[in-house]
Amino acid sequence: MFETLQPLPQDPILQLMHTFREDTRPDKVDLGIGVYKDDAGNTPIMAAVHEAERRLLEGETTKSYVGPAGSAGFNNAMAELILGSNSPLVRDGRVSVIQTPGGCGALRMAAEFLRLCKADTKVWVSTPTWANHLPLLGGAGLTIREYPYLNPQTLQVDFGAMLETLEQADAGDVVLLHGCCHNPSGADLSLAQWQEVTSLIQRKGLLPFVDMAYQGLGEGLDADAAGLRHLAGAVPEMLIAASCSKNFGLYRERTGALALISGTAAVNAAATSQLLSVIRSHYSMPPAHGAAIVETILGDDDLRAQWQKELGGMCERILHLRHAFAGALSPVGDFDFIARQRGMFSFLGISPEQVGRLRKEHGIYMLESSRVNVAGLNDRVLPQVASALREVLGK
Ligand code: LMR
Repeated sequence: MFETLQPLPQDPILQLMHTFREDTRPDKVDLGIGVYKDDAGNTPIMAAVHEAERRLLEGETTKSYVGPAGSAGFNNAMAELILGSNSPLVRDGRVSVIQTPGGCGALRMAAEFLRLCKADTKVWVSTPTWANHLPLLGGAGLTIREYPYLNPQTLQVDFGAMLETLEQADAGDVVLLHGCCHNPSGADLSLAQWQEVTSLIQRKGLLPFVDMAYQGLGEGLDADAAGLRHLAGAVPEMLIAASCSKNFGLYRERTGALALISGTAAVNAAATSQLLSVIRSHYSMPPAHGAAIVETILGDDDLRAQWQKELGGMCERILHLRHAFAGALSPVGDFDFIARQRGMFSFLGISPEQVGRLRKEHGIYMLESSRVNVAGLNDRVLPQVASALREVLGK
C-alpha cells in the first residue's frame, strides 16, 4: 500500500532550520524559525524554568495519568494569564481551559471540535498567515477562506480591505485572528481596530478564534492581551489557542492551552465534554512536563516574578533590535515599519531571488517570503546584515 505514496517536500520553516544547522560558515546568521535568541545567538532555558524543573524533579511522586483536560492547576493559571485576573467569564463558569500539546495541539483540537459542531464550517484566515495554520485547520476538514490583512506595498495592516472582506462572511463562520505579534508580518491591530472587528463579529454573528502564540513578547503580558480580552468580553462564544513555546521558552516540551468560551455555564459544560471526547480520540491526554513547569512558575510568587522579569527582558531586547535594525537599514531604504511592528517577525519586502542571494553569498537565513525573525539579530551581526542587504539591493 505504501509504495503508491510520493515523497513530500519538508515544511519550508523546518527545512530552513535544518539547512541552517548544516551550514558550516562561522559567520552565518539565522533569522528563520521563530525561536528567541539571546545576544550570543543561543536559545537558553529561562532561569525560572530551570528552577521549576529542579523543584519538580525533587517533589514529583508519580507519573500516573492525569486526563484529557490535563492539569487543573495549569488550566486555571492559563485562564488568568490569557483573560486577566478576576475575569467574569471565569467567575460565571462560561470558560473552560484545556491543556494541549503546544499551540498546534490547541489549533487542531479546536478545528476538530468546530467540524463536530458544524460539518461545513468555514474559517477565515488572514493573508498572509502562519503557513501551518492552513494544514492544521484545513486538515480537520474546515473550509479555508482568506481575508486581506497586510498591504504588500506598505507592509502595514490594510484594515479597510480586511473589514470589507469580512462583511462577506456568513453567520456562524469562524474568523481566525492573531492575538498579538502577527506571524509572519509583525503588523498588529490597534485596540481601536480590535473594537471595530468586535462590532463586526457581533453584528454578523461570527465566531472569533484567536491564536495567542506570543503573549508577552510584543509590549507586555497584559497589553498584548488587551484586544483579545475586549473581544472575549463582548461575544457569546469564542475559542482561544495559546502557546507557552515562546513566552516560557518551552518549545520542545509542547505546552499550550485551548480556551472555550460559551454563552452560559450549562452550554459550556456540555461543549467541554464534547471537546474532551475529541481529545480522547486523538491523543488521549497531553504530555505533562511543560505544563507542570508553567503551573509551578505561575503558582509561586517569587518564580512568577522572576519569569516576568526574564520575559520583560526578552521583550525589551526585541524592541531594541527593531529600532536598531530600522536604523541600520536607513541608508538602504525606509524600513521604519520594522520599529513600529511587534513580536519576532517582520517582512523585509525583498524578492525571493534577493533572499536566495543573502543565504548563498552571505550566510543570512530568512524565509523565502522575506520574513525575518528579529530576535535572531544582535548588535554584533546587525552591521553585517545591513551591509549584505545594501549589496543585494544594489544600494
Ligand atoms: C515560526 O513561525 O517560525 C514558528 O512558529 C515555528 C514553527 O513551528 O513554524
